[in-house]
Amino acid sequence: MCGIIARIGRGNAAETLLTGLENLEYRGYDSAGIAVQNGSGVKVHKCSGEVSELKSQLEARPNGNMGIGHTRWSTHGPPTDENAHPHTDTVGDVAVVHNGVIDNYDELKADLRSKGHEFESDTDTEVIPHLIDEYRRETGDTETAVRKAVSTLEGSYAIAAIVDGEEAVYAARKGSPLVLGLDDDEWFLASDVPAFLDYTDEVIYLEEGDLVVLEPDSYRITDLEGTPVERSSDTVDWDPEDAGKGEFDHYMLKEIYNQPSSLSNTIEGRANDGEVTFENLTEGTFSDVDAVQFVACGTSYHAAMYGGQLLRSAGVRTEVLRASEYESTTGPVDENTLVVAVTQSGETADTLEAVREATSRGARSLAVTNVVGSTAARTADDAVYIRAGPEVGVAATKTYSSQAVTLALLTQQIASDVPGGEPAADKAKLLESLRDLPEHVEEVLESSQAEAIARERLDSQSYFFIGHGLGHSVALEGALKFKEITYEHAEGFASGQLKHGPLALVTDETPIFAVYSGRGDEKTKTNAIEARSRGAPIVAVGPDDHSLADAADTHLSVPDTHPVWAGLLANVQLQLVSYHAAKLLERPIDKPRNLAKSVTVE
Ligand code: F6R
Repeated sequence: MCGIIARIGRGNAAETLLTGLENLEYRGYDSAGIAVQNGSGVKVHKCSGEVSELKSQLEARPNGNMGIGHTRWSTHGPPTDENAHPHTDTVGDVAVVHNGVIDNYDELKADLRSKGHEFESDTDTEVIPHLIDEYRRETGDTETAVRKAVSTLEGSYAIAAIVDGEEAVYAARKGSPLVLGLDDDEWFLASDVPAFLDYTDEVIYLEEGDLVVLEPDSYRITDLEGTPVERSSDTVDWDPEDAGKGEFDHYMLKEIYNQPSSLSNTIEGRANDGEVTFENLTEGTFSDVDAVQFVACGTSYHAAMYGGQLLRSAGVRTEVLRASEYESTTGPVDENTLVVAVTQSGETADTLEAVREATSRGARSLAVTNVVGSTAARTADDAVYIRAGPEVGVAATKTYSSQAVTLALLTQQIASDVPGGEPAADKAKLLESLRDLPEHVEEVLESSQAEAIARERLDSQSYFFIGHGLGHSVALEGALKFKEITYEHAEGFASGQLKHGPLALVTDETPIFAVYSGRGDEKTKTNAIEARSRGAPIVAVGPDDHSLADAADTHLSVPDTHPVWAGLLANVQLQLVSYHAAKLLERPIDKPRNLAKSVTVE
């Protein structure tokens, strides 16, 4: 949902800004732009298209030791050169990049127009440089002008601005993320850490209402009244290599292959001697909880379904709710309700809003996220990190696996604490088998026939995914991934649901991926056979020795494991099927059309 970057320091800023934007492209790739400041004013270079297009249009890197940059996911106005950021005031003295949505831009624009300001774009953002310009003329001071301008804005923003003739970057945040990077001789601001991870791992996560002024030798943070505020710095333990593509053709493939290692990180220290331990959640921490609500979107919702089902079967009252529907679907909520926000980025607006709504009704909150310092982590009462490392591909892969495992472990702790909850009777066995999961994923990756199956089934009319129990959420996830990156029609169903309507769509042109889940798979088998007798090719995804494989035309094999982990292995096979199908169809796998990784608007 748009990525912004700013940099000030010695040497030329342009190359750093462009590299930073490439690292942020998962947040949007409709258009890109930079503005740099040098002795001859603020120079803006921008265009529709990806950062590579901007780079190819720049014959030489513009000079200037400070600048701002933006990669866009359109909200207001189509992806055109005019709508690309940075935007400027009428004379081009103030340049601004923005991530977020300004709700009152229509009124502000009308007011500014009546004062002689001229606008060139359809965006909500363009009012910001004009406001700063207006208040600069009124107050004679840029910092005051930025403060007044952002106080006028309704909606969400992370902005960075530069002004002709000033050796400073001004920035502010409300409702959209902004992180400050501190290196020896340069400062950065960005929507997310990977933008500057090549240069520094020392960061300050800015808080709501923070305003920052970066100068070559200093930075200061104040609130919107101008009172200085202290923010402590953190060291990010992400390796810059993790944020790169390495030897892989796509981030998505790299992230799929990273799963043995990311899962090992997720598990490390959390499943010892038959017990679950989370670093920051002491035993009994959930003893006053009598109901749990998971809220999430997209892939995270599927991971939440996985966790939710495990918790429900451990005797805890559990709901799994789509975050965007929270307000209208939640049942009673009170101080004994635990709302668990499952969000890889920790910035998904729908999920954050659901947490705010739940806490306003008295609920206690817990964020399960990949990003330390993210809004979800800071907003919730507690946070548990999935430790998957940076995920750049827009299609979530390794973070799904790490979320599902984290939630499976969390359910054991919640069930131990909550009165009436019953941790798994075979908890020791469950945790023991979890240790083998990274190796089992490795086996899947080494021997997968997913590419051959993707090739064999290419150009089908629709792709269906079915599963029962935990396998249902895997089937939904398999279908989401498939449609997201192949642009082919795909749907996931609970196995038994097929005969209640969707079977009408089944022909020999609708391959069905039947997901083994370790429990109740006879249902999946029966429904697969029913579809097969109507001509559908069946691909079983499960262990070799299961009868589901006998009922299928082809088979994607997974190692035998505890039923709780079986679906996660099947999911890795489905990730590979989606990847290879998208590759054969020559889709832009890491940047599927119309999507962005971090959805910071509702
Ligand atoms: C799909 C995908 C999205 C996200 C969803 C929530 O591959 O990545 O469906 O899962 O937008 O994002 P987070 O987890 O950041 O809240």
